[in-house]
Amino acid sequence: MKKSFLHIAIIMDGNGRWATSRGLPRVAGHRAGADAVRRTVEAAVELQVGTLTLYAFSSDNWRRPIAETDALMLLFEAYLHSEAVRCLSNGVRLEVAGRRDRLSSDLLAAITVAEQTTAQCERMLLRIAVDYSGRDEILRAARAATSFSGFSRDSLDNALGPDVDLLIRTGGERRLSDFLLWQSAYAELVFTPVMWPDFDAPDLEAALADFQLRDRRFGGIQSYSDDSPGGRVFQRL
Ligand code: IPE
Ligand code: IPE
Ligand code: MG
Repeated sequence: MKKSFLHIAIIMDGNGRWATSRGLPRVAGHRAGADAVRRTVEAAVELQVGTLTLYAFSSDNWRRPIAETDALMLLFEAYLHSEAVRCLSNGVRLEVAGRRDRLSSDLLAAITVAEQTTAQCERMLLRIAVDYSGRDEILRAARAATSFSGFSRDSLDNALGPDVDLLIRTGGERRLSDFLLWQSAYAELVFTPVMWPDFDAPDLEAALADFQLRDRRFGGIQSYSDDSPGGRVFQRL
């Protein structure tokens, strides 16, 4: 099977509105959102996506009431406990991106177990961004890079991980909210009004179909396609 390098990133927004429009507490929306994560990961594996990065909690989300942030942290922990084995059997390597110093020791332990359990998986990389800020990530990577001799754009690119090909935001807003700012420099953007808990495989397929119609030029005049020889190299010239 040809190795896919396609990187899809999703801003999973709309849980709260999904819940309140049904007369439910916001946390019910987050619970339903966890089911949408399971469906989306399976759909992405089926579609042979290389990397899927999901925005689960931004560093600014700490501004929310403590009852909501506590509930979200417990949901992440439960998700990691239940999904690590499923990821392993689907060949999905799970990684958590973002700051770790403000997470509970129980959540940190669950992250370590999930990352270790799936470390050898190669079918797809699933990155879950928790306490993540794109601006902070750039600052930290730049600081680390300047402490080595030979600082370069390339070393920063490597430290910050793969470029995003397709960035999807659910929930109807059209903004980045501090997600993968560096990596999305040439991302194709898809905004959908679908609230995250309702997001399903056909929505991912529709976003991918839209992406496939885009003409990616990376500042040049030629179209770039993933299948073109040296395509990724062309992107970096
Ligand atoms: C996204 O849904 C989940 C998180 C940010 C944790 P929201 O909770 O932002 O839902 P809305 O935008 O209020 O509907
Ligand atoms: C972005 O959604 C963060 C996540 C989806 C995890 P927010 O709901 O926090 O973003 P804003 O506040 O509408 O920009
Ligand atoms: Mg929101």
